[in-house]
Amino acid sequence: MSDMPFPDVQRIDAYHKVRGAILFGADNVRPDMLHASLAVAAIGKGRIVNLDVRAAGAVSGVRLILTHEHLGHVKSAGFLMAGGYSFQGLQPMLSPDIAYRGQPIALVVADGLETAIEAAALIQATYSTEPISATLDAPGTETVNQADTPLKERFPEIVAGDADKAFAQAPVKIDARFTTAPQHHNPIELIATIAEWKDGKLIVHEGTQNAEAVRHGLVAALGLTPDRVEVISPFVGGGFGQKYAMQMQTVLVAVAALRLARPVKLVVPRAQIFHDASFRPAIRHRVRLGADRSGNMLAAIHEVDAQTSRYDLFPAQYAALSSRLYGIKNFRGRERFVRTDVQTPGYMRAPFEHAACYALECCVDELAYSLGRDPVALRLSNDTVTDAISKLPLSSRHLGECLRRGAERFGWSKRTMAPQSMRAHDGSFIGWGVAIGAYPCFIAPAVARLRVTVEGGVFISIGGHEMGQGLRTALAAAVSRKLGVPAADVVAVIGDTRGAPQHMTAGSWGTASAIPTANAAADAMLNALARLIAGGAGGRTPAQVLKAAGRASLEVQIQAKAPGQPDEVYGRIAAGQLSFAGPVYPEFVTFSYSAHFVEVRVEPTTARVRIPRVVSVVDCGRVISPRTAGSQVRGGVVWGIGAALRETSEVDPRYGGFLNADLAEYVVPVNADIGSIEVEFIDKPDFEFNSAGVKGLGEVSMVGVAPAIANAVYHATGRRLRNLPIRIEQLL
Ligand code: MOS
Repeated sequence: MSDMPFPDVQRIDAYHKVRGAILFGADNVRPDMLHASLAVAAIGKGRIVNLDVRAAGAVSGVRLILTHEHLGHVKSAGFLMAGGYSFQGLQPMLSPDIAYRGQPIALVVADGLETAIEAAALIQATYSTEPISATLDAPGTETVNQADTPLKERFPEIVAGDADKAFAQAPVKIDARFTTAPQHHNPIELIATIAEWKDGKLIVHEGTQNAEAVRHGLVAALGLTPDRVEVISPFVGGGFGQKYAMQMQTVLVAVAALRLARPVKLVVPRAQIFHDASFRPAIRHRVRLGADRSGNMLAAIHEVDAQTSRYDLFPAQYAALSSRLYGIKNFRGRERFVRTDVQTPGYMRAPFEHAACYALECCVDELAYSLGRDPVALRLSNDTVTDAISKLPLSSRHLGECLRRGAERFGWSKRTMAPQSMRAHDGSFIGWGVAIGAYPCFIAPAVARLRVTVEGGVFISIGGHEMGQGLRTALAAAVSRKLGVPAADVVAVIGDTRGAPQHMTAGSWGTASAIPTANAAADAMLNALARLIAGGAGGRTPAQVLKAAGRASLEVQIQAKAPGQPDEVYGRIAAGQLSFAGPVYPEFVTFSYSAHFVEVRVEPTTARVRIPRVVSVVDCGRVISPRTAGSQVRGGVVWGIGAALRETSEVDPRYGGFLNADLAEYVVPVNADIGSIEVEFIDKPDFEFNSAGVKGLGEVSMVGVAPAIANAVYHATGRRLRNLPIRIEQLL
């Protein structure tokens, strides 16, 4: 059964979602709840000299004003990527120092939201200011080589063969520099916390991809014990990496709720999220790619400078992707940090892979043109079955099939190679571009508790967070198939620290981590049910078996981890610490792959770029939930279109911060920007990777879209544009 494709089932929560019946974090209102608002720093860097809260405190209905003078007992929970729990190491409001524009300086709590907002606006701060470095090129930045920091243990420089020598000797050379803009995640659900103290327990409702880190972060920040904190996040209104750790407001709201002995709610407005949550950092790339005259790629050198904050090093893994996209034998990666006066950047969908793949795949297109080779054929001739860095076998790689299927479906054979050689009836230049993508396949350890009841209930509690990607639907599809019950009867308890330990859900590892474990739990349940009655369970449902055996319910627990992981990872997940593994496992390496084919139309007078159609073919192993998987890919393609043509967070080098901090001016693609997006899956299970044969999907969908667009723009215009987003003024 496990090698059969999964049928298309509807999204398990769709009906409740469209009726508005699903409660997101900030929907958990309480009758006696108070509302909070933040006041934020209006300087780029410096120190608060005086904070005058008298006018704010005089507003009728204000209950509490917290500033750095009131939080002496609170500690920073530390940066998640440095062993802590927060999105950055700096917890605002613990000192008068200001590290970046928009950093919170006060939390006002009032009876009503309007009162809290009004009072926060009346807080008067005077500052001493310091010079700032807001961009990669600004004076005063500090550049640090990752290989010269302790991060090198976990994120070593990637070197294979002698790339410099092989590049110098290569008969065909491409040498190009690229920039990718800072960007901000803008999920529809804003960052929000509702904190409530009940019988000495802190209960937090907050949309998060990492409920256990929020819980243990509160423990660390407030000096509590883990049994006194519960974090509840059954649904997240979009994560994309933004909600991967504890946010800056969670502790502040918890303190306010404790002081006032009332539930307190804070919804961080979008303009503040641009400065108080993570973002995709600004990046500079230099790629050198060498090949022989028949198009064999011989050497690649990928050098990256990525923005980080003054106080954290957000680990860089760009070369981890570019080194492994092809079988290039000589590779050298170098990743440096540029410290600027900004909050710490973080993971935003395909955080390294999107940018790294853009730089490399644009160079591959340049290589194809300098050789006069078809860009699809060139990529196919550089395919591999071995990991270029570790020399281990790839557990599966159906990239060639993605390229061939995509080319056929797109009609690639009708393409003429020369730039500006294809015109539409209205005179627009037609450009057809291709690029591939890859994304490492990770697995996080998971504990699954599966319970069936005589009333027909099926409950699975497992580590995982539903942020719209469809994890609940995938769990229901897998468990229902095993137990022979309708998918709609399967209830998944996820994103809730009252159930099984909740490892962070990110990195496209949700399905590969949860589904094999859920399958194993279902198998254990079938065995346990069979033992309940003499002669076995036969064709009976779990409820029928329980009834026959006179039992009210039955529960099994199973735990599973990635290949090669030690048993202590189970202790780590229970403690809210990162414990995922991959893509390099003891005996193999695993990636998911995509191939994107894009048509652009460039209007010759205005240089307006439209994208009427995209064909994307993805190898993500076995597809568990075809409907939500297709949505994931279409969403990823839209992200790629945004990254290529729209999204940038504008920085004023004089003042710091981000200028276009709202959805009116932070331009994302809208429906009118999107044409046809055709999605196809190879759907070949990878049983070497795990027993369910699933790899990962969400992020590989985006990887390669931006370079396919840039390559299509070149085909349409003859212009190589190496700075994202591509703007009309670059084309005119
Ligand atoms: Mo993702 S950027 O790993 O949530």
